[in-house]
Amino acid sequence: MRKLLFSLAIMIGVVFTSTADEGMWMLQLLKQQKLSEMHALGLKLEDYDIYNPDGASIKDAVVQFGRGCTGEVISSQGLVLTNHHCGFGQIQQHSSLGNNYLDDGFWAMRQEDELPNPGLTVTFIDQIEEVTAWVKECLVRDRERDKEGIFYLSPAYLNGLAREKAGEQFLNDHPGTEVEIKPFFEGNQYYMFTKKVYSDIRLVGAPPSAIGKFGADTDNWMWPRHTGDFSLFRIYADKEGNPAAFSTSNVPLKPKRWLTISTRGVEEDDFAMILGFPGTTHKYYTSWEVAERRDIDNSVRIRMREVRQDALLEEMLHDPAVKIQYASKYAGSTNAYKNAIGTSWAIDMHNFEQVKRDQQNRLAEWADRKNKPQYTDALKEIECIVKERADLRYRSWMLNEAVNRGVEFSTIPTAIAEHLVKALEDDDQAEAEKLLVQLESAYHQFADKDYNPGVDRKVSKKMIAAYMQAVPEEHYPGAFHLIASDFEGDSDRFVDFLFDQSLFGSEENFRRAVSGATLIESLRNDPMFLFAKSVRDEAASLRAQLASYDVPLSLARRTFMEGMLAMDEPYTHFPDANLTLRISYGKVKGYQPRDGVVYKHQTTIEGVMEKEDPDNWEFVVPEKLKALYSTGDFGPYAMPDGKLPIAFAATTHTTGGNSGSPVMNGAGELIGLNFDRNWEGVGGDIQYLPDYQRSIIVDIRYVLFVIDKFAGAKHLVEEMELR
Ligand code: ARG
Ligand code: ASP
Repeated sequence: MRKLLFSLAIMIGVVFTSTADEGMWMLQLLKQQKLSEMHALGLKLEDYDIYNPDGASIKDAVVQFGRGCTGEVISSQGLVLTNHHCGFGQIQQHSSLGNNYLDDGFWAMRQEDELPNPGLTVTFIDQIEEVTAWVKECLVRDRERDKEGIFYLSPAYLNGLAREKAGEQFLNDHPGTEVEIKPFFEGNQYYMFTKKVYSDIRLVGAPPSAIGKFGADTDNWMWPRHTGDFSLFRIYADKEGNPAAFSTSNVPLKPKRWLTISTRGVEEDDFAMILGFPGTTHKYYTSWEVAERRDIDNSVRIRMREVRQDALLEEMLHDPAVKIQYASKYAGSTNAYKNAIGTSWAIDMHNFEQVKRDQQNRLAEWADRKNKPQYTDALKEIECIVKERADLRYRSWMLNEAVNRGVEFSTIPTAIAEHLVKALEDDDQAEAEKLLVQLESAYHQFADKDYNPGVDRKVSKKMIAAYMQAVPEEHYPGAFHLIASDFEGDSDRFVDFLFDQSLFGSEENFRRAVSGATLIESLRNDPMFLFAKSVRDEAASLRAQLASYDVPLSLARRTFMEGMLAMDEPYTHFPDANLTLRISYGKVKGYQPRDGVVYKHQTTIEGVMEKEDPDNWEFVVPEKLKALYSTGDFGPYAMPDGKLPIAFAATTHTTGGNSGSPVMNGAGELIGLNFDRNWEGVGGDIQYLPDYQRSIIVDIRYVLFVIDKFAGAKHLVEEMELR
């Protein structure tokens, strides 16, 4: 019996190399891959409703928002919904003390009041085409030029091919159209994307941060969640509907397709699907890369960020001005820190090393049977490279996390300073004047309103001490040796010396030096400049040494992946995320994080009120929201039991880049807006965990409630199509 079960397990393992609900699938292969499973779970649509190369389909309503987020078109007038944290930079840009949209929210009551955002783009995917055979032919054609053998993964080369394929004439005739070829499965397959990029994107609405960022860092990566993480933008185009630079004569885009919205709500186990632009995953890591990620990358990141965040928080809690200055840096730091903790937890808890070892062993046995030694060799090569690069990788992660990120002054503009010294030495007056202007501007960009030298001084002392403890002395960047030779090993005194003596140590020092007669001397001997330059040189040297492993590793990974694809049935695998359009599907579902603890699938306004803490900026609840809560005035957006829904969780496989993605029901109607994952599920970037991984989604009814009842911008809801 046991034996039978065992072979059954193997059979099942062989057939289902991905678990139900796992995967970020490519739209054009839905029929071959997942459509029947999706139908079984509750999808009512056909593949061509989602992706239709010959007509409008749901994919035409899904856009890449900026460079790292997703958004969706939700009206016939080009209205786009995305996350508050995706529009955060724009909302911040328009904010001042007088018009504090971060604190108070922003609502354009008329289209004339919508705010332009230079630099922001929204990208539609017009066409997706497999071009594997053609790219492979070109690689053979161009092999003479490809001295290092890296063209097969090179974005510059591949995008050159894309332009060649599209033709310059076509691109000139279609302003705003861009083409791109991306490698999939480590360079075993290629797809070409024809995109339309709109660049006149205006801010339409954003809730106050107390709604859009409610729970801030404490709740980040956490379920149960109570954040209204959304904002609204509008796409503007020329009169023909083509992309055009900002102009008052532009008009709202009439899109090919927009999503209809369901206000009927969700129940546990309902079908849910997400279209979006996931950024990076590592499904095809080998066991050695899993261990490397935990033992080097994550371990260094966690240790060093703990030191930095503790030091930062102490300063922030001490001084409200510092709290504002460092809010964004602190949030960025904790975001990746918590992710690293969750990933390492999942690696151990669910033995990812064994999962990947099983995958490798399966390949090795198959390769043996089929007499294809190249696949076993590729595995050995990966193992070998990962072992050999361990020390370099450790030092590089340490330098990056502890010094480049932890010591702000390690990023002062050394390159411009060097050019300036050179121009002064050459007595090139004109060049020197130009460079001095550049240096001033670069220094002020570094020492901007959110830079506090007092904080940097304190935090750097902690970071430099931690770095020196963690890295062997012979590997310190050159400037660190001064600490032993000139400061009796006292790194705190060294940091004080840098700040007191350097022209980059304070605005006063900087002013004095640039207006002084001996600028050349001051620059040449500037201790902070010498420190930063030495860190920069060490980083470059580590990068160069590590690069010698990159090419053979990528090649071995390509062969390994080729073996995986050859071994399993066609269409079994989904490619790792690479910022291309994908679909994930699953069910609305809660989970059990720990023994005896059950999390429900849905949260409500009750939880907002439970978390309320007027003394903690992360959990302040706006008065207006409290008033609506106390009268229970939720309009048509309440659940059948009268409560206001806030967020729900689903088993959909998502990652960074999926923020802002539309969450749809079986009929393809919008039911929510993806914005996060639970920390127990972030390991899904390496191995999806059906019992743990959850996408965290704002309930669309909360979004509508905030727009309509809270902000009084009912005209925007009227623009949408509600069902
Ligand atoms: N964890 C989410 C995602 O990576 C949201 C991040 C923004 N929120 C924050 N508190 N930092 O990227
Ligand atoms: N919060 C992420 C994002 O910004 C989404 C995730 O990592 O699940 O894309």
